[in-house]
Amino acid sequence: MENLVMMKQAVNAQFWNGKKVFVTGHTGFKGGWLSLWLASMGAKVTGYGLSPNTNPNLYNVLDIPSVIEKSYIADIRDFIGLQKAMLDSDPEIIIHMAAQPLVRYSYQNPVETYAVNVMGTVHLLEAARHLHSARATVVVTTDKCYENKEWVWGYRENDQLGGFDPYSNSKGCAELVASAYRQSYFSNQNNTHHVATARAGNVIGGGDWSEDRLIPDAIKAFEGNSALRIRNPRATRPWQHVLEPLSGYLILLQHLYEADGSYASAWNFGPADADNRAVQEVVELVISKWNSPAEWQLEKSEHLHEANFLKLDCSKANCNLGWHPRWNLELAIEKLVQWHYACLQGENMREFSLSQINQYVSE
Ligand SMILES: NC(=O)c1ccc[n+]([C@@H]2O[C@H](COP(=O)([O-])OP(=O)(O)OC[C@H]3O[C@@H](n4cnc5c(N)ncnc54)[C@H](O)[C@@H]3O)[C@@H](O)[C@H]2O)c1
Repeated sequence: MENLVMMKQAVNAQFWNGKKVFVTGHTGFKGGWLSLWLASMGAKVTGYGLSPNTNPNLYNVLDIPSVIEKSYIADIRDFIGLQKAMLDSDPEIIIHMAAQPLVRYSYQNPVETYAVNVMGTVHLLEAARHLHSARATVVVTTDKCYENKEWVWGYRENDQLGGFDPYSNSKGCAELVASAYRQSYFSNQNNTHHVATARAGNVIGGGDWSEDRLIPDAIKAFEGNSALRIRNPRATRPWQHVLEPLSGYLILLQHLYEADGSYASAWNFGPADADNRAVQEVVELVISKWNSPAEWQLEKSEHLHEANFLKLDCSKANCNLGWHPRWNLELAIEKLVQWHYACLQGENMREFSLSQINQYVSE
């Protein structure tokens, strides 16, 4: 009995072995790690996303096409294409992560951001509701989907949705879309397909080369021996290693798949309280682990509005899923620095990433 409880509270490789899983955003940072993790447990993964837009990128570094069953390089705004891909792959489980995920880019490109993040979610759920085999779907949004009150408390799943900038707001809208679809199409008595949403914090880890994100900017600056420029050193965020929210999504999907609709709701997956830290502290931790001199400077250019204080209350995932963070911020930074050193030294990064997944799982 105790073993059974522990299996439900951890990522259960036996559960994933042979499962057909449809992952959107598999060409991105979280998608690369998730595809590798799923494939390592024997899941049959189909991916759907745009061609990677950075060089290097995790998709190529890990050679994701060779670990998964099928990789669609396609746009989530193309409903017909998405529907066909989903029908052809006939998944039992769906994880929706494809998004325009950058706050500053969203200020310049609001229409694209809403089209991808809101209508993309509509397309995904519309296609999903016509699938016969699908039993569990998680729509990934963000900690930024809440109406930010700049208060010291963590946001709970039943707090007001909102979002000041187009990115955050589009994710609040994606939450509403998922909620409407859940109530309208995935809740009747005979329903066996359960839909949840997941809101995670600021994710860090090896293999993120995105523009305009703190850790990728730091790694690029330090590798090029230049100073990192930061805009808002006092802004506080819930920092966590990428494997933390991914483990939360996987455990949530296990519950959605195996239970009735009682897990079909919104879930926060954030770090422990102590890891809600200011940008400056995080940068100084990276510098302390970097093995050559590195420094940061204040960026004085015009600042777009970004929340100053943001924290998640994860009591629900702690109590009802048994999910808890495993790596604190210091360890997460150690892992990401080790990953980038290994990459610079030309190591086999698929093996290296798998070894980090194994370390995470065995702790
Ligand atoms: N990285 C973080 O700190 C963080 C925090 C909270 C939530 N999230 C969410 O997690 C998810 C993954 O984020 P990430 O950090 O891996 O970002 P990423 O930019 O590395 O990956 C985004 C993925 O979405 C795909 N995509 C973008 N536009 C698309 C389109 N029009 N059609 C099809 N695919 C498209 C990209 O090709 C890529 O595969 C996103 O939904 C993001 O909002 C990320």
